[in-house]
Amino acid sequence: MKKIRSILSDIGFLLREGRHLLYCLRRDYPSRQDFGSMPPHSTISFPCHIGVKKNIYAEDFVKIRYGLTVINAGQESVFIGKYTVIAPDVTIITNNHHPTVSIPQVILGESHINDTSANVTIKEDVWVGTRSTIMAGVTLGRGCIVGANALVSKSVPPYALVAGVPARIIGVKFSLADIERHEEALYPQEERMTHEELVELFQAHYKDKKVYGCSVPLTDEQQEIVKKLKKKRGIKP
Ligand SMILES: CC(C)(COP(=O)(O)OP(=O)(O)OC[C@H]1O[C@@H](n2cnc3c(N)ncnc32)[C@H](O)[C@@H]1OP(=O)(O)O)[C@@H](O)C(=O)NCCC(=O)NCCS
Repeated sequence: MKKIRSILSDIGFLLREGRHLLYCLRRDYPSRQDFGSMPPHSTISFPCHIGVKKNIYAEDFVKIRYGLTVINAGQESVFIGKYTVIAPDVTIITNNHHPTVSIPQVILGESHINDTSANVTIKEDVWVGTRSTIMAGVTLGRGCIVGANALVSKSVPPYALVAGVPARIIGVKFSLADIERHEEALYPQEERMTHEELVELFQAHYKDKKVYGCSVPLTDEQQEIVKKLKKKRGIKP
């Protein structure tokens, strides 16, 4: 009798593990259709670990490298703008619990009572550095860079370079004039930031900040490489 009970227990264990394995395979190797939006010219490498995939909305021409973890439990969403790159092993957290008197943590986590969850928005042309963590409610502004291993707990203005734990602005991607040139190359007129918006941005965040990006004109050979890669990814000139 004891032996039969032990065999039944082992079978139960194997069934549970098998179900868990199937769950992990589906979770870590999802199809394009599982996402809220993952257009044809956007790519995501596997494995990834994403809770609610239908709440992930990527625009076209997004590149998500392997190892993305999204901890999202309920209604919150993640929006990712065009031309953005998410480096390997990035974590995005939209789900957040709020300590509540009388509820043990394990039940708080399962009940979601008083959760302070919120969307994460990553705008266009952003580079999220490897192993960084983006917290609930954060917006990463257009063209910003998140340094490797940063913990981003507050929103980041357009074109900032942020790094550290918690992340702080350590520089600006380009000079104001170069941002205007960059925007002309990437966006139609109606999508570009205006000169006034950029002046305001620089006054608010980038006084005395180091400019990181490169503004040397591209050689013919470099232009050819960019042209080929744009064509491959379906980006019109
Ligand atoms: C943030 C980053 C873009 C800056 O690059 P960079 O222009 O080469 O910067 P530098 O090496 O000149 O460093 C500038 C300063 O920032 C500091 N710094 C650079 N990267 C940092 C990071 N991730 N976190 C904290 N500080 C950082 C440097 O120590 C240096 O400090 P100092 O001025 O006090 O000496 C880069 O370091 C980074 O993190 N890139 C992400 C790489 C990645 O994820 N690759 C995956 C491929 S998709």
